[in-house]
Amino acid sequence: MKRNYSMMVAVILTIGWCLPSNAADWVRVAYDDAGVDGAQPHLKKAADNWNVPNSEAFDEALRTVVYGPYIWFGYGGLNTNAAYKAKLRFLSDGPRVMRLKAGDLTVKESVTADAGKSSECVIDIPPASYSMGTLELALEVISGGNGGMVSDIEILSTDPAPLGVSKATNPVILTERGETLAQRDMRLKWFREARFGMFIHWGLYAQAGGEWNGKPVGNEHNFGEWMMYDARIPIAEYATLASKFNPVNYNAEKWVLAAKTAGMKYVVITTKHHEGFAMFKTNASPFNIIDATPYKHDPMKELAVACRKHGMKLGFYYSQNLDWHHPGGGGNDWDKTHEGDADQYVDKIVIPQVREILSNYGDIAVIWWDIPGGAINKARADRILKTVMELQPKIIMNNRLGGDYWGDTETPEQFIPATGFSGRDWETCMTMNGTWGFKKNDHNWKSVETIVQMLCDISSKGGNYLLNVGPTDKGEIPQESLDRLVEVGKWMKVNGEAIYGTSASPFPQGVPWGRVTQKGNMLYLMVFDLPIDRVLTLPGFSKKVIKAWFLDNENKAEINISSDGRELKLIVPNGVVINSPATVIALQLAAKEDMGENTAK
Ligand code: GLC
Repeated sequence: MKRNYSMMVAVILTIGWCLPSNAADWVRVAYDDAGVDGAQPHLKKAADNWNVPNSEAFDEALRTVVYGPYIWFGYGGLNTNAAYKAKLRFLSDGPRVMRLKAGDLTVKESVTADAGKSSECVIDIPPASYSMGTLELALEVISGGNGGMVSDIEILSTDPAPLGVSKATNPVILTERGETLAQRDMRLKWFREARFGMFIHWGLYAQAGGEWNGKPVGNEHNFGEWMMYDARIPIAEYATLASKFNPVNYNAEKWVLAAKTAGMKYVVITTKHHEGFAMFKTNASPFNIIDATPYKHDPMKELAVACRKHGMKLGFYYSQNLDWHHPGGGGNDWDKTHEGDADQYVDKIVIPQVREILSNYGDIAVIWWDIPGGAINKARADRILKTVMELQPKIIMNNRLGGDYWGDTETPEQFIPATGFSGRDWETCMTMNGTWGFKKNDHNWKSVETIVQMLCDISSKGGNYLLNVGPTDKGEIPQESLDRLVEVGKWMKVNGEAIYGTSASPFPQGVPWGRVTQKGNMLYLMVFDLPIDRVLTLPGFSKKVIKAWFLDNENKAEINISSDGRELKLIVPNGVVINSPATVIALQLAAKEDMGENTAK
């Protein structure tokens, strides 16, 4: 099974619940499975019952690239009391035989696709596969090859009709932590204001840098931190990396300052990734940075100190399910010595280590689980969560624990969801090149423009951006990352007001020239591309504008504003240059009581 499966399922499972109430009956999401740079969801209007605007993804035809053996797509808003029959249609660029699955259940053993021709099949969808109101379907390629394209997947008709998204909301999400909505809002306040954080993937994989026995493992789609799995390296052999791991140039303060310079407000670091190696002092396993390496220091200690000193929130990533080292952990099917009991693994490794990371480093702002399912069933998830709550009751937890826990945040990975997740907090995590963990040969860096515009896009949809760096075996954040962080920081210094503490754009249909955020009586127009006529239109906008100015220079130029009561037009004066990555215009709106007629000056 491909590596990102569980997360993708999580994404699919949740997206349907989160769209605005006027959204489609069939909420549909499909995306490529690259799991790397460029992986974007490819969403498409399904006939005329689809209405999710504000996404460039809609400009593209639905296109699902077959990088691995699975092609996923999903739907929300199902009536869990009904049994559905559906007609499915799709196009394939080559002849393929595939298996159709609904969740874990096989719905059709063999679906044949002819090259370039539309293929159809009728399916009964087993109710067990959408017991929570959302359905994930997958086409598994049996023959005909990966690497290619299956497109235009559509559910043509269903019997009965779906319920609609608005009815599929699950109140459990709010009660999970046994708190009121107000308490929850308080707890998430800092996160909603922060908008921008640094993800740090650091572990033994940095020592290998994506190479094993002097050769690169896999291709550009393979993540550095997945090397042990990708090359099926035996446990004892992989563990020898530890004897060389000596990050003598590690300087926590430098890392924290790099994040701070970029305008980031929190850091989330891998304390233990799927390789099972603890980057902290632990008594639960000798496979840790103190006992197994020549370095012998606890980098989390220093990091916690530096974060506290510089007002940076600190979060811990912990791989609770996949652990290719410790017996009973999930995901290792190539080394016999890994066989073991999952309860033992959870009780002897996970819970003690979670106890350590949440006890020994002060306030921890975020616990970032990864890959729900596998070794973590409901009972084990319950035990883990109990430990967390006992130690850090205010902690923000993502949606990847497993055991049906929703957590506080959705975690779209490597993509920006078309409309955000209305009613849910969310955070897109993304690599700065193509890998999370350091890889010597990955030079596929995102540009500063891309990074900033993605931050604008995410903010305009009400989410956070957790941007990754993968430090080296010597403990250094790659220079390419540092350079970008500095440049992003320059933009943030001038324009951060348009990002921090803002909420999603009031224009769900989007604006063609950029992105919009709002805060109190302020609107921020983040202009990426100035239209030829230099007019920025705010559709359906009738509030009175008191003042408009450029964030990069209040006195730069007078912005001419007009309104016909239906839309507001701003004319950017000749001579004013819209700079990359984005020039921001602030609009101060009249307070409610000052609102005159629907005209703006
Ligand atoms: C995926 C990968 C993992 C990475 C994570 C970040 O789950 O398995 O390597 O840590 O994404 O979101």
